[in-house]
Amino acid sequence: MIVYVNSRSYFMKVTQAILPVAGLGTRFLPWTKSVPKELLPLGNQPIIAHLVHECLDEGIDDICFVISKGKEAIPLYFERHPELEKNLEAKGKSNLLEELKKYDSVRFHTVYQDEQLGDGHAILQAKDWTDQHATAILFGDDLFTDADSALRQLINAYELFTEDERGAVIALEKIPLEHTSKYGIVDIEKEHESQPRIKKIKGLVEKPNPEDAPSTFGIVGRYIIPRSTIDVLPNITSGEGGEIRLIDAFINQLGSEHIYGYECEGKRIDTGNPEGYRDAVKVWNI
Ligand code: UTP
Repeated sequence: MIVYVNSRSYFMKVTQAILPVAGLGTRFLPWTKSVPKELLPLGNQPIIAHLVHECLDEGIDDICFVISKGKEAIPLYFERHPELEKNLEAKGKSNLLEELKKYDSVRFHTVYQDEQLGDGHAILQAKDWTDQHATAILFGDDLFTDADSALRQLINAYELFTEDERGAVIALEKIPLEHTSKYGIVDIEKEHESQPRIKKIKGLVEKPNPEDAPSTFGIVGRYIIPRSTIDVLPNITSGEGGEIRLIDAFINQLGSEHIYGYECEGKRIDTGNPEGYRDAVKVWNI
């Protein structure tokens, strides 16, 4: 007997994630002169640990940080500290020891982005590290609450597709029309028959004025991208300010790759600015 039921999701499983955290964090200056904003606390752990746990909850245990010089404290947070472990063991502090060991089986990798030349440029720095058919991308500023994690929602959508249908899945949020100039906005071809939150995309526009916006679905900080998207990044002509933008890679691929959006459930909080961070503290410190 041949059983096909689980074979599809097994072979398509996403096991690697890139977390670009190389930005300068100017909105948190002067704090960010010495401390990366991703290490600001939310509850009893830093923001970046929330993202790592979002990956681990989906079985993604191969994680690449894209950092810039001066942000080494981010990967350091997840590294083992044998001396401290020995010390805690000697003092019988097994709870703390347990806490420190929770990342032991995770494979962390770090690459540098020497200049802040955009989100696509950040992902490009991890090009030689990824070796899977698809990779999860999580941008550090966006956290989601009141629903399954955004990554889980994207993975559920991705795993619905057959091998021929699969492609990129981009997290979307319905935003007010007057905010379109702050987001990448998608042009929707059609909704999935049984799962209307999944949308086939026929166009993307970076930060359009409301009168030019093809929809009010804005791109937010989670993606599943196929290998082909990483491969086209070196050919992307630089956008405004010499940037290599991920949205331009998707635009480049519209004729050759399936590009889907997923309208995420739940509330998104942008922790990348002080007001958003304050909101996040209220949610995660309770
Ligand atoms: P932002 O546009 O919020 O930039 O990047 P930023 O530097 O973090 O913050 P501000 O605007 O100066 O206050 C969104 C995400 O993309 C990453 C950032 O680290 C952040 O997680 N990023 C952005 C990179 O890794 N590299 C880039 O070149 C740009």
